[in-house]
Amino acid sequence: MKIAMIGTGYVGLVSGTCFAESGNDVICVDKDEKKIEDLKQGIIPIYEPGLEGLVKRNVEEERLSFTTSLEDAVEKSLLLFIAVGTPPGEDGSADLQHVIAVARGIGKCMKEYKIIVDKSTVPVGTGNKVREAIQEELDKRGEKIQFDVVSNPEFLKEGNAIDDFMKPDRVVIGCEDVRTGEIMKELYSPFVRTGKPILIMDVASAEMTKYAANAMLATKISFMNDIANLCEKLGVDISQVRQGIGSDSRIGYSFIFPGAGYGGSCFPKDVQALVRTGGENGYKLEILEAVEAVNYRQKRVLFNKIQKRFPDLKGKTIAVWGLAFKPNTDDMREAPSIVIIENLIDAGAKVVAYDPEAVNEARKIFGDKITYGKKSYEVLDGADALVIVTEWNEFRRPDLDRIKSLLKNPIIIDGRNLFEPKKMQALGFDYEGIGRK
Ligand SMILES: NC(=O)c1ccc[n+]([C@@H]2O[C@H](COP(=O)([O-])OP(=O)(O)OC[C@H]3O[C@@H](n4cnc5c(N)ncnc54)[C@H](O)[C@@H]3O)[C@@H](O)[C@H]2O)c1
Repeated sequence: MKIAMIGTGYVGLVSGTCFAESGNDVICVDKDEKKIEDLKQGIIPIYEPGLEGLVKRNVEEERLSFTTSLEDAVEKSLLLFIAVGTPPGEDGSADLQHVIAVARGIGKCMKEYKIIVDKSTVPVGTGNKVREAIQEELDKRGEKIQFDVVSNPEFLKEGNAIDDFMKPDRVVIGCEDVRTGEIMKELYSPFVRTGKPILIMDVASAEMTKYAANAMLATKISFMNDIANLCEKLGVDISQVRQGIGSDSRIGYSFIFPGAGYGGSCFPKDVQALVRTGGENGYKLEILEAVEAVNYRQKRVLFNKIQKRFPDLKGKTIAVWGLAFKPNTDDMREAPSIVIIENLIDAGAKVVAYDPEAVNEARKIFGDKITYGKKSYEVLDGADALVIVTEWNEFRRPDLDRIKSLLKNPIIIDGRNLFEPKKMQALGFDYEGIGRK
């Protein structure tokens, strides 16, 4: 099939590349000229395991190309995916300006029947807004051209995006037209050969499915963080509790690790947007308001644990392992590390940070307000304490003797519960995780 992927960010680049990998002809469009120029030269703008090789292969086999020309991509494609950002507006609702700008752009240049597929995460009713925007542009041109609007929310996880896209748990397609549904099913059939479902529903239900899924996952995280904080007060070990509840098949093990609070480009903004949608429709989503409040507090828990040890942080040096909001990505949007580091800087501490992939992103946020290490152990030298924020694999089994010899004080505050507290204490560390005994 001929596909235009409009918006070549995390979702657009991964989805476009995976569609090309299954044999489709894909043109990725972006308004960011530098990004497109880099991609044409084989420079991948994000860190995502496996992506670079896949992009290279599909470009070489001429199934994947990059352009800034929307008009060109629209002309050559039947399926026009919208995969632009939907960041939070000032009031927390999803800002649809990029989605609508693309819809207008399509309406201005389409010359024949097209299927417009919204892959961005958008509130209920956006499908209609996209349809109206395209129709308005067609009317201005006096053109009578048929088109269909489909919702196809994306569920990939950064850090595992290719696998998630290639082997999704399910594909959700919101569409009103049977023939369009069949085309979408055909497009996705190579990805669901193991029998995972393609769920066809109406557009509004598909739009809501994406928000409900993210809100549920965020709820699991905040729930566990809340329980972990109580465990700490009661001298109970959250990891034993986690196993105790995860083994219940109605609950399950995934997404119940306590931590430093959820971040990333999706959960924070999507929970906010859903709360806002509730408000606009006279319904208070009380659970989700609490999920947000708990997450706000959780992002400050690691800093509080440091401050307990150093009531006066002026002149102290704190080493930070992990800046990305989660491992295997360089994405720092809404990362807990930002809150921790900002608090440390405000309190007068010097921060020396290391992350295997996210240093360039971190520089855009902190500039030279903090120091960046090239290696994990380098940042420990002479530091007063180590804070672990992201659970990269390389932090899971480090040389603890070496850490102890490098730190000025053997203090580790672990936001990801990587080690056994008793073992760490026996080794002479002042070690504290989240909700551990
Ligand atoms: N990142 C994720 O893990 C993830 C997962 C599922 C869903 N989503 C959703 O997918 C959407 C995209 O997210 P993302 O993380 O890929 O965003 P992103 O910020 O990484 O990428 C968006 C891209 O769209 C481009 N763009 C903006 N306006 C444009 C226009 N008018 N024409 C062409 N290009 C334009 C930007 O330059 C940017 O490259 C969002 O709605 C997000 O909520 C994201």
